[in-house]
Amino acid sequence: MGEKVEVLISKEDVEKRICEVARQINKDFGPDAQLHLVCVLKGGVFFMCELAKHLDMQVTMDFMSVSSYGDDTKSSGVVRIIKDLDEPLEGKEVLVVEDIIDSGRTLSYLLEVLKGRNPASIHLCTLLDKPDRRVVENVSVDYCCFEIPDEFVVGYGLDYAQKYRNLSYIGVVRLYGEEADA
Ligand code: IMP
Ligand code: MG
Repeated sequence: MGEKVEVLISKEDVEKRICEVARQINKDFGPDAQLHLVCVLKGGVFFMCELAKHLDMQVTMDFMSVSSYGDDTKSSGVVRIIKDLDEPLEGKEVLVVEDIIDSGRTLSYLLEVLKGRNPASIHLCTLLDKPDRRVVENVSVDYCCFEIPDEFVVGYGLDYAQKYRNLSYIGVVRLYGEEADA
C-alpha cells in the first residue's frame, strides 16, 4: 500500500493567514502586552514559530507535550502529559498555540490543567479546526486560521505516524493500493 499527499492549503495561503491572525492578536492585546506562548508539541511548533515572528508585543515561549493519539489516525481518548512546562503560569497572559482541534479532548483537558495554575488570562489559538469532529463542548477557540472538513491532514507540523511534519503546506494523506481499495 502506498501513500501520497495532496495539497489542501498552499504554503502561501498558510503564511498569509497566519500573518492575518497575528495582526488580530496584536490589535487585541496591544503593543504593551507581555504574551506567554504555550506551544503544544510537537504539531504546534511550526505554527507557533511563524505566528511569533509577526507578533509586535513582548513574547515569551514555553513548550508542553500532551498525547491523545497513538501512531494512527484514530483518537484513543486517553490524554496524558508527556512533557510539562518549564515555567509557572501565575499572573501571565497565556496564549495556547495548537496545531489542530479535532475531538477537542486534548484541549479540554489541557485548558483545565493550565487554568488551575492561575494565569492572568488564557486564550486559545489554533492553526486548524475540524468543528464537525468535536465531542466536547467546553473548548472555545479565540483564534483559528482555518476551519477544515473531516479529513486527516499533515504538514506544517502535523504528522501521520510521525511523517510529513516538515511539509511547508497542509495536505491530505491518500492511501492507495490493495488495502486502501478494499
Ligand atoms: P483531539 O484531542 O481529538 O482534539 O486531537 C488533537 C490532536 O490530535 C492534535 O493536536 C493532533 O496532534 C492530532 N490530530 C487530530 N487530527 C489530526 C489530523 O488530521 N492530522 C494530524 N494530527 C491530528
Ligand atoms: Mg496537537
